[in-house]
Amino acid sequence: MPNPIRLKPPASGFRASAPFVEAITSIKYGLATFLATVVMASASPTTLDHGTWIDLNKNGRKDVYEDPTQPPEKRVADLLKRMTLDEKIGQLFQAYRESDADAAYGGLLRQGKVGSFLDGSELIENPALRNHLQRIAVEESRLGVPLIFGTDSIHGFRTIFPIPLAQACAWEPELFEKTQAISARETAAVGIDWTFAPMVDLARDPRWGRIAEGFGEDPYLGSLYAAAGVRGFQGTNPADPDRVIACLKHYVGYGAVEGGRDYNTTEISEYTLRNFYLPQFRAGVEAGAWTVMSAFNCLSGMPASANHHTLTDILKNEWKFRGFIVSDWAAVNELMSQGIAANPAEAARLALTAGVDMEMLSSNYINTLKPQVLAGTIREKTIDEAASRVLRVKFARGLFERPYVDESWPETAFLKPDALALAREAVVKSCVLLKDENNVLPLSRQLKHIALIGPLGDDTNDLLGCWCARGRSRDVVSMASGIRAKLAPDAEVTVIHGCDLPGVERNPDGSLAARNRSPSASGEAAFGQAVEAARRADAIIMALGEPDSWSGENASRSSLDLPADQMALFNAIAALGKPVVVILINGRPLALPEVQNKAAAILEAWAPGVQGGNGIADLLFGDADPEGRLTVSVPYDVGQVPVYYNHFNTGRPQLGEYVDGPRDPLYPFGFGLTYTTFKYGEVKLSAGTLKPGGTITASVNLTNIGSRPGVAVVQLYIRDLVSSAGPRPVRELKDFRKVRLTPGESREVQFALSKPELGSYDRNGRWVVEPGEFQVWLAKDSASGKPAEFKLVDKDQD
Ligand code: BGC
Repeated sequence: MPNPIRLKPPASGFRASAPFVEAITSIKYGLATFLATVVMASASPTTLDHGTWIDLNKNGRKDVYEDPTQPPEKRVADLLKRMTLDEKIGQLFQAYRESDADAAYGGLLRQGKVGSFLDGSELIENPALRNHLQRIAVEESRLGVPLIFGTDSIHGFRTIFPIPLAQACAWEPELFEKTQAISARETAAVGIDWTFAPMVDLARDPRWGRIAEGFGEDPYLGSLYAAAGVRGFQGTNPADPDRVIACLKHYVGYGAVEGGRDYNTTEISEYTLRNFYLPQFRAGVEAGAWTVMSAFNCLSGMPASANHHTLTDILKNEWKFRGFIVSDWAAVNELMSQGIAANPAEAARLALTAGVDMEMLSSNYINTLKPQVLAGTIREKTIDEAASRVLRVKFARGLFERPYVDESWPETAFLKPDALALAREAVVKSCVLLKDENNVLPLSRQLKHIALIGPLGDDTNDLLGCWCARGRSRDVVSMASGIRAKLAPDAEVTVIHGCDLPGVERNPDGSLAARNRSPSASGEAAFGQAVEAARRADAIIMALGEPDSWSGENASRSSLDLPADQMALFNAIAALGKPVVVILINGRPLALPEVQNKAAAILEAWAPGVQGGNGIADLLFGDADPEGRLTVSVPYDVGQVPVYYNHFNTGRPQLGEYVDGPRDPLYPFGFGLTYTTFKYGEVKLSAGTLKPGGTITASVNLTNIGSRPGVAVVQLYIRDLVSSAGPRPVRELKDFRKVRLTPGESREVQFALSKPELGSYDRNGRWVVEPGEFQVWLAKDSASGKPAEFKLVDKDQD
């Protein structure tokens, strides 16, 4: 068996290079013929199926592990004691489902030596192939242990929603739960049991391409989203046919990679780990996530995929996580490149004994664990523990009762009306209005001529974002279509690119073929057509940003600028002196002070997915009100990175400026404008002291003083002024509420604060809440408002 360091095919096979598509397509058709034969041969009703149970070990008796009325733990134990060492190790191996899976893995499947398949290619849409492999495992292996099939549905499967970073900007975890539930439904429709999501890595560095996949820089909001994601995927019963098993990833610290370069090293103190990087994982585990993925990065001197402290001490022992840990793609193999394992056997031993239960893609476990157990260097108990965890999840998924899936063509499960309506709502709620000078937005629907300028104006490709599973360009509503649909039939929308989007050229191993610096500015002369159209138009909209290949895995940037020719195009158009509305499409915050200065309006639309054009147009024309708020600070310049709102105070807070640029970000965490104006009154507290067991009410009077209805996101921040546990952030988000008010309407918005919200982890991982002084803000963002103060007191104090 090969033990490759493999890079995965592009996240969206359909949008891959032509030769790749061609190769896959020909494999697919060849395979279809082959399958027609094999699948039909095994399609006859199985005699193993006894209606309520399956005779998996083919002995004619209902054994405990086959009996759905038995408690899952008894079933796991019963099965485990029947398994050979080889079969137990087999459960710990995840193979890649490719065209030749049958040829490559049929033998191993029959011996019960494959636990799972990962799907990434177009074959994923072939449930018959999935069932075929499952049949070999169930009907042709000794104990008939079913396989579990996994894939990545990060922001949708076929109905592609906005990237997770965007969805977090909706400040509505309930909405995320709903989008993930649709994602689960579509993923399950092709026969997938398990998705490698939600990605819950806290990130403070926009150079890192994977910032797109997470929720931003705040552990509180991130925790709410992590839990919502898990609930959305798993529902109340992950065995339901329209649900999937969730996987929290990447455990842990991956978002802190040095220099923002993917896969890079991280150094995170226990204090910072506990207070910032772990909470989202803990929230996901508490919400019932059945799996966790160990990360690629080296964490404080030990790779995360061999880190006993985080995997076993914290996750399994302290948090009592009962599911299994899967490595990231060949991460066990990579322990050798990371220089802590000399050979495959060492890599396998280190990962397994640290707590990684299943090895994704590389085959160090399957190749080397048995001899190590026989030689006594690994205890069989360790294998038993890992195998039990995998089996427990398979029982939870109901695979022992329902190993096969419906093979009817799953297209009807995709892009259903409820999914599309939700996708549009998600776009509307996740866009963030960054500037709106003189109320240039919303635009009038009576406009007769709009110039839509920039390489993304009619794009249906890059709007999908970086992890678009089976998303297809043809499903995407472009901005041009969305805008046209709002205007009278005789209105003109002139779409001019002005320049191209830069791409990313890679070698087959994933390394860069050429440095992807953005092409140099071509100068105003090249933009003549665009300038002319803008001159003639009643309104100018510029659709600017990044290609989707600049975000996601292995797609870090060293700059946060717009590609240079887009910047030049913007300057050429802005020089006309007419109001310019900029729509930004990007997977990360971009540092654009010049655009902020010159544009009349800026709408951050991120990568919005299939309903991008419709949702953006709803906002542009005021059919919906902007509700999004940033969940990540937007730097003024890349040199500020990392810049985040919840930092500690220094000993000299008034000093430490940059001599050549501002210290504060361009837009702070929590920022976002509306089409109306809200007035926040003073923060009032119900008492000056808080006793253990009591609550204090913080309230603010909120008034819509503008002329349109709108949604305020009232954000509650606290600051613990002195803590012996360790320094506390200058502000910490602890609660928030979205409030819709009509013009002139006022509301008293109240929040209850109690002792548990006021604590933090100390350097030893203990949760501490100390008496002392606290500040509270109720504000529109992390940089606004005036705090009120109260004291947390011990029982007997006043
Ligand atoms: C990524 C994971 C993903 C896995 C499987 C890895 O390269 O880091 O996020 O789940 O591949 O596709």
